[in-house]
Order: sequence, then C-alpha cells, then structure tokens
Amino acid sequence: MARSSSASARLHAEIDALREADLRRRRTLKWGAIDADVLPAWVAEMDYPVAPAATEAVIAAVAKGDLGYPVARAYVEAFARWAWERQQWRVEPAQLTPVADVLAGIESALHTLTAPGDGVVVLTPTYPAFLRILKKLGRRLSECALLDGPDGWRMDFDAISDALAGGAKAVVLCHPHNPTGRVWSRAELTTLAGLVDAHGAHVVSDEIHAPLAADFVPYGLIAGHSVTVTSVTKGWNVAGLKGAVLVCQPETARVAAAIPPHERQRASVPSLAAGAALWSDDGGWLAAIRDYLALTRAELRKWVDDRPGIRWHTAETGYLAWLDVRDAGLGPDPAEVVLDRARVALDPGSRYAPTGSAVADGFIRFNHATSVPLLRTMLGRIGDLLDSVQ
Ligand SMILES: Cc1ncc(COP(=O)(O)O)c(C=O)c1O
Repeated sequence: MARSSSASARLHAEIDALREADLRRRRTLKWGAIDADVLPAWVAEMDYPVAPAATEAVIAAVAKGDLGYPVARAYVEAFARWAWERQQWRVEPAQLTPVADVLAGIESALHTLTAPGDGVVVLTPTYPAFLRILKKLGRRLSECALLDGPDGWRMDFDAISDALAGGAKAVVLCHPHNPTGRVWSRAELTTLAGLVDAHGAHVVSDEIHAPLAADFVPYGLIAGHSVTVTSVTKGWNVAGLKGAVLVCQPETARVAAAIPPHERQRASVPSLAAGAALWSDDGGWLAAIRDYLALTRAELRKWVDDRPGIRWHTAETGYLAWLDVRDAGLGPDPAEVVLDRARVALDPGSRYAPTGSAVADGFIRFNHATSVPLLRTMLGRIGDLLDSVQ
C-alpha cells in the first residue's frame, strides 16, 4: 500500500514537471499536428508518461524479434480476468474476438446486425466517428439528442423508444459517454435494454473509456442483445499501439462469426503484449492517473465556476469536458476563435452532431489530460480572451 502510494506520488510529480518542449517532440496527433505556439486540448490523448508495464512489454517483444502475425490468446484471457475482477462481468475467452481497433469492431458489429438503409440510434452529442461509420455503411442516422437537465445529461428514452418503434435496428452506446463524460447508471442501462428488447433491436456498446471509470456497469452485464467493443488504448493512453476486443453474447455471436481470420490479426504482437500486460497488472498506473485527472478536473471546474458565460455538467470520469460556451461572447465558431486568438486547440462542438444541434453547436470539447501547470497556462490564455470579448 505504502509502495503504491509513493509510486503514485512519483508519477504525479513527474507529470507536474512535464515540459512543453518535450511534449512538442511527440509525433502523435495531439502535439504533432499543431503550430509551435499552440497548446493542445483537443484530440483524446493524454500527456502522461506511458505505464512502464506497456513499455516493457513492447520492448521485450521487439527485442525477441516477436514481430510476425499475432496470436491473441494471452490478450483475450487477460481481458476476461479484468472484466471479472474489475467489472464483475463473466466473459469466456470464446466470446472474445481481437480486432484492429474499437472503430473497426463497431463497424463489423453494425455491418452484421443491421442492413443497408436501416436506422441506427446515436445519442448526440456523439463521438464524430460514429456518424462517419453510419455514412460509410449506408445506415440511416436516428439521432436522439441527450437531454440537458439541471442535474446533467440524460438519455431521452421517449425519443429512443420512438426511433426503435420507427424501425431503428441498433443503438450505438458510448459508455462512458464521449464527449459528456457520463457513466450510465445501472438503472439507465436497464431502461435502455428494456426498450431495445421490446423492439428486437441490438446495442453496440463502445466501452473504450471504461477503464478510467471507478464505478462502472458494463452493458453486457445487463442485456444479451449486445456487442461490446473495448481496448486498453484510451485508459492507458496507447492509442497508437492499436488493438481492441469485441465481446459477443450468445445472441450476437454471428458478429464474431462474420469476422474473417485476417481481420483478427490486424493488431501487432507488441500491441497485444502491452494490452495483455495492462489488463493484468499495470503497477497502479491507472489508479494514479485517475487521481491526477480528478485534480485537473477540479482545476477546470474552479475556472468554469468563475466564468458565468460557461456551463459545464462536470464529467463523471475521464478527461473530456463538454463546455457550453454559447453565452461566452465567442461567436458561432468558438473553437476557431480560441485557436486564433488564445492559441489553444479545442474540438469544435459542431462536429459532434449533424448541423443545427442544440446540444452541440456553440459547445467545445476540452481535453484536460495534461499537467496542472500546463492546464493553468491554457485556461489563463482562454480567460484573457474571454475578458477581452465580454
Ligand atoms: C468513444 C471512442 N471510441 C473509439 C475511439 C477510437 O478508438 P480506436 O482508435 O480504437 O478505433 C475513441 C477515440 O478517442 C473514442 O473516444
């Protein structure tokens, strides 16, 4: 216990000391695709050091020349243990299929569970790739906007029920939800499952952000009409390693059956080795990062509370904040103005729904997974801009 809390304190000190110049040397999207004077709070990458368990697994695989086509047995077994120990969800390795990444798994699931022209429910604001997948597959978007209530974002069960009654064949669930940071409760999942069952539809549950949620009920524990896709890549911040696991239930086993062998080999040996290590024992990294994210979330909360023009239903997990800046005086394209004048890169809300959405236009997605000092610099720059426009 003492050992792990001192390791956590060391990691926190390392993060506090992160230097912008070092981060700027990264070749990942977050830091690699912006101008030299811009600070990034956009794409979902964290600035934190990689968990040593992942680094060691990748180095060991490369050192052994372990670079042929992968066998995913150790990876799926490690996930099955994780699901049982952390989520009290019993899944057998036979239910698990390795896939290239989470989006590839979602695409395969929708391809099998729905037909061209079918409606698919997406809860907006939504991670934009879901909209692109529907377009690519020729499925019809059945948009169900979340309700923006005084206590936070909620699913609109009437709208979901209407969409299913109108013929939608699947629901894409993002759990925890990107961009709002909602962790759907057991009661909400149970209500959703009842509606989906009543109409003989299916749920594809994207649980990529789940490892960061302390208190989490997997959708697969609630309903057999589902396929879950998850990965270590967001929780442990190794998106570039690729690799994910698709979990089918007996009712949805045809999704796995339709995935050809070559699509099961699209991750690499190093990525699956890192994944197996992280699902098994990450040396306390995730717990330490969760604690650090609580600090940056609190820092952002404090800043928002001092800005009457900004509204935020504090996220329940993770590092993404869905900020309503419609009354902040930044005009119709706030992310563009912040980039232009405060030199901070944000994700524009308008990408998170089809055009003209009351839950997306005029919002921004802010990624606070950086050090407290860098976060303060970004918030300081945006604060100066807000002071100048109000
Ligand atoms: C909800 C969600 N799903 C999927 C992805 C992408 O996952 P992958 O790179 O494994 O396809 C992201 C990336 O940010 C995400 O936030």
